[in-house]
Amino acid sequence: MIECIINMKYKFLCLCWSMLLPLTAAAQNNIIKAGDDGKSWNITTHSSGYHLEVTGNGELGTACYGNKLNLEKSGGIVAPEVQVRGGNATNTPMLEVVFPDGVREVELEYKSFEITETEGYPTLKIIQSDKFYPMEVSSCIRVLPEYDMIEKWVEVINTGKKGSIKIENLQSGSIFLPKDAYELTHYSGIWGYEFTPQTAKLTQGIKTIQVKNFKSYGTSTFLVRPEGENDKYSGKVWFGSLLYSGNWRVDFDRDFAGTVQIVGGMNFWDQEVYLKPQQKITTPHLLFGYTEQGVEGVTTNLTSYVKEKLSPASHRNKLRPVLYNSWYATTFNVNEAQQLALAKTAKEIGVEMFVIDDGWFKGRVNDKAGLGDWTADKNKFPNGLKPMIEKINAMGLDFGLWVEPEMVNPNSDLYRAHPDWVFYFPNRSRIEGRNQLMLNLAREDVYQYLYKYLHDLLKENNIKYIKWDMNKALTNPGFPSAPTDEQRAVRIKYMENFYRLVETLRQEFPDVWFENCSSGGGRIDLAMMSHFDFNWASDNTDPVDRIFIQDSYLTLFPANTMISWVTQEDWHKMNPSLEYKFDVCMSGVLGIGYDITQWNEDQKKIASEKIAQYKAIREIIMNGDVYRIVSPYEENRSIIQYVDKSKRKAEIFAYNLAEYPNNARENLKRSPLIRLRGLLPDVRYKIDDFNAPFSGKYLMEVGITLPLRGAYKSKIYSISAVE
Ligand code: DGJ
Repeated sequence: MIECIINMKYKFLCLCWSMLLPLTAAAQNNIIKAGDDGKSWNITTHSSGYHLEVTGNGELGTACYGNKLNLEKSGGIVAPEVQVRGGNATNTPMLEVVFPDGVREVELEYKSFEITETEGYPTLKIIQSDKFYPMEVSSCIRVLPEYDMIEKWVEVINTGKKGSIKIENLQSGSIFLPKDAYELTHYSGIWGYEFTPQTAKLTQGIKTIQVKNFKSYGTSTFLVRPEGENDKYSGKVWFGSLLYSGNWRVDFDRDFAGTVQIVGGMNFWDQEVYLKPQQKITTPHLLFGYTEQGVEGVTTNLTSYVKEKLSPASHRNKLRPVLYNSWYATTFNVNEAQQLALAKTAKEIGVEMFVIDDGWFKGRVNDKAGLGDWTADKNKFPNGLKPMIEKINAMGLDFGLWVEPEMVNPNSDLYRAHPDWVFYFPNRSRIEGRNQLMLNLAREDVYQYLYKYLHDLLKENNIKYIKWDMNKALTNPGFPSAPTDEQRAVRIKYMENFYRLVETLRQEFPDVWFENCSSGGGRIDLAMMSHFDFNWASDNTDPVDRIFIQDSYLTLFPANTMISWVTQEDWHKMNPSLEYKFDVCMSGVLGIGYDITQWNEDQKKIASEKIAQYKAIREIIMNGDVYRIVSPYEENRSIIQYVDKSKRKAEIFAYNLAEYPNNARENLKRSPLIRLRGLLPDVRYKIDDFNAPFSGKYLMEVGITLPLRGAYKSKIYSISAVE
C-alpha cells in the first residue's frame, strides 16, 4: 500500500492494520521482551522464539527463528533484519532502492522501537533510517502466540522534502533457519489440479515460488522441514504464507554453509514504486510459523487462525448454508422459468441458498459477450431479476448471484464506450483470455463504475450471496495515461482498489456472503480469506480428483471456507455413486450443481437424506478441528477426521479410491488400522458400525480398521462419547 503519510486516503486497505494501541505491561513481558538497554528483543510464542538486537555497527540484526529455547543463548546474529542491496550483502535483498542522486546502496542504522497492540496482538515496531538519505524503514512484527506464528511487514517512508526514492524491490520480511539440510514443500497447480504438493531439497542457491500474472492455482504457503523428517504429528516445521492476492514471490536462499533464508512479499518483477516526499509504502503481511508437531501442527495453527481471527468477522461464526448453483445445469442459457424449477427442487431436497451463476446479464449468450454490462438481460429476464428473486425467497430460499467485476468482453457496451479502461500498451496486442480483457481497476473511474453497479445490484435486489469470479490472468499491464513514475506501480494500486471495493460492499451490505472464485482455485490466499467467506477450490468436481485437491486445501485452509458441489462430472469415467459424490462434498461447505429437475425420485431421496445428514454434522465440520488421518497421496484412500471442540463428538470421512485394501498389493504393505486424533484418552466412545465402545486412548494409540470395502466406496462414521 502506498499512502501519503499526511493524508491517508483509504481506510479499508487490508494491508494496513490500523488501531495501534498501547499494550499492557504484562503482555509485553510475556510475549515481546525488550532488553534493559532498549537494543535487544526476545519474542516468544507457545513453542517458538525469535531474537533481534542492534549489532556493533548500529544496524538491527536477526538471529535464527525456531525453538524458544534458543533464546536462552541470546545473540547468534546471522544477518541484518532488513537485508538491503548495499555493502557486502550476499543475502537475497528485501530492500533495493535508488536515491534521487543515483546512489543504489542502503545503509541502515537503528533509531527507536515501540511495542503496541494491533487487533488484539502485541506488535513490535523497530525503526531504522538510512545513515545519510531521508528514508525511514520500520520492521513490524505482530505476535500470535497461541498459533505459534509471527506476522511481519515493513513500512518505508520518504522523510525528505524533495526528490523521490525509487523502490525497485521491497519484501515483507524474512527469517533465517539454523544450519541444516532441509526440504521444502509447497503447493502449486494448474486449472483443474489445484494445490498439488511438491517437495524439493533445498540445495545451495535459490528456490523461488512466485506468481507474475495475478493467477495462482497454488499458494504462497510453504513448509520447510529438516531433510528426512516426515512424521505427520511431530518434528520441526517452519512454515509461512503471504497475505496478498496480487503478484507474490517467496525465495528460499541456502548459502554454502547451510543457513537458509526465507524471504517473501510482493513480486517486484516489472514493478517499481517512486516514493515521493512524505509518502509511505506498507508491504503486505507475511506470516511465519514454527511448530514441532509436524504438518498437523501447521494445519492446526493456520486453520485455527483463519477461522478464529482472520475470516470476515460478520460471518465468522455463522453456519454456512447448503447451496445450489445452477452453472453445471444451465451454463449461459438461464431464464426465469427454468431457474424457478431448479429452485423448487432445490428447496424440496433441503437446499438453503440458491445461486445463479454466469449468463444472467445483458448480452451474455456465451462467453464472448456481456462482461461489464451488469444489468439483467431483457431477453432472459424480461421483468428483471426482482420478481424471480421474490418467488425464490417465497419458497424459503435465499438468493445469490455470480459476477466477474474485474473483467470486460470487447463485445460489451462498457468496452465500446471505454476501450481505454482496460490494461493495455499502445502498439501492442490486447491479449484476451476466454474472450475477455482485464479492467484497469487502478483507475478511479473504473473503481467508481464497478462500485455503482455492484452497489445498485445489491441495493435493488434481495441478494444474500455474491460469487465473485476472475477468469483471466493479467496481461499487458499498461496504464498509458498514468504519470510515467506511477506506471509500474499499477498492480499495487489495482490490489488496493480491489480490496477496497470488496470491503466497501461488505460494510454496506453486511448480511451478504461473498465467495471467491477464479476459474476454480486461481486466487486463493490468506488475504482473500480475510475478505471472502468461501473459496471455490477447483472447477474439477470429479470426486476422485477432488479428494486430492481437498486433502491439500484442508492442510492449509479451514473446512468452512471450502465449497464443493455435487455434479454430474466424471472425468475418469469411474461412474461414482451419488452417495460417494455427496460424501466428498460434505467435508467442506456442501453445494449441489446437477440439473436436479432431471433427477428421479431415488436420486432426490438420496440427496435429501445426505443433506439432512450434513445439516446434522455440519457444526462439527465447520467449527471443529480437522485431522488428516490418511492422505490420498500416501495410500489408496483418504480419511479425514473432524473433532468437535468439546472432543466428545467426531466424524470420520472415509473414501476408498481404487481397490482397497485386501486385493491391492501395494496396500498390503501398510496396516489397515487407522489411529484417530484429538479425542479424550479416558473417555469411551461409540462408533457407527462397531458394537463395543472404545476408549479414546485405544482409538488414538492402537487404532481400528474401518469396515469399508470396495473401490470408490465411502462412509461418514459418527463418533460420540458414551455418557
Ligand atoms: C469459472 C468458475 O470457476 C465456474 O464455477 C463458473 O462460475 C464459470 N467461471 C462461469 O463462467
